[in-house]
Amino acid sequence: MNKLYGIIGYPIGHSMSPLMHNDAFLQLGLNGYYHAFNVREDQLKETIAAFRVLNVSGFNVTIPHKVSIMKYLDEVDVEAKQIGAVNTVVNVDGRLIGYNTDGKGYLKSLLEVIVKPLEESTVLVIGAGGAARGVVSALMNYGVAQLMIANRTDEKATQIKNDYGQKNIEVISFEEAESNIGVFDILINTTSVGMSPNIENIPLSVEKIKQNVVLSDLIYNPLKTRWLQLGEEKGAIIHNGVGMFVEQGALAFQKWTGLNPDTKKMKEIVLKQLG
Ligand code: ATR
Repeated sequence: MNKLYGIIGYPIGHSMSPLMHNDAFLQLGLNGYYHAFNVREDQLKETIAAFRVLNVSGFNVTIPHKVSIMKYLDEVDVEAKQIGAVNTVVNVDGRLIGYNTDGKGYLKSLLEVIVKPLEESTVLVIGAGGAARGVVSALMNYGVAQLMIANRTDEKATQIKNDYGQKNIEVISFEEAESNIGVFDILINTTSVGMSPNIENIPLSVEKIKQNVVLSDLIYNPLKTRWLQLGEEKGAIIHNGVGMFVEQGALAFQKWTGLNPDTKKMKEIVLKQLG
C-alpha cells in the first residue's frame, strides 16, 4: 500500500520538498507519496486530527507551525524541545513523534566546507529566531570553541545563551561584532535579511573579514546573497542554504523510512528548481 507523507505550512505553494522526496521514494523503489498541504494556523488542529485518521506516515512542518505543532504531538524528542521547534513528525504505530532535523542538517552541510576544526573555531551566529536555535543547538552539541550571537533584539539572543548556560556562548551587539570581525572563523546568517525580493540587504558588514573565513547564509533564494557575494570578493569561503535544505530533508526521510536517500540527486533537483 502507498504510504502518505507531506509537508504542512502556509503558504506552501513554493515548497521544493515534494519533488525532492518523491524522487527519493522512486529511486529507492518505495511506495511513498509526499504532498504539500496548505494549512492555515486556524486549521492546524483539525489537520493533525485528519492525519491521524488517515494514518499519514510522516510529515514535515514549516512556517508558521514549527512551534505550535508541538502541543498536538504525543512526544517531542529532546533536541527538538531544546530548539523549541519541530520540523519532522514520524508516525510510529499511531503515535506522532516530533523531531527537529534543521540543526543537524545544517551542521552536516557546514562540515563539508570548513577547513579549520569546529572545536577550534570562533563562530558568530546572526539572528536568534527558530532557525538560529537549530543552528546553535547543533553547534553546541558538536562542540565549538566559542559561539557569539548578535541579534536585532538582544533579549532573544540572551534567552538562547541562558538556555545553554555555558561559558562559551556570548551575546554581542552588531557594532561589537563588526569591530571584532577578525576574531571569527565562521559567520552564519540565520535571519531573512538578503532574501528575495530584498536582495540588496546585508545582515552585517564584511568589509574587514580575514581571508578564508567561512561565510554561511541559510538563505537559498537567491543562491548567492549580496552578503555572500561581498564576502567572496574579500576571499571568504561561501556556503549557502541549499545544503541545509537538502540535509534536513534527507534526515527526515531517513527517520520515516530507515533508508538514506541520495543527497547529491536531491541537491540536483533543488538546484534545478531554483533555476
Ligand atoms: P526563523 O524561524 O526563520 O528563524 P524567526 O523566528 O521569525 O524566523 O526569526 C527571524 C530572525 O531574523 C530574528 O532573529 C529576527 O530578529 P528579531 O529577533 O530582532 O526579530 C531576524 N530578522 C528578521 N528581519 C530582520 C531585519 N530586517 N533586520 C535584522 N534582523 C532581522
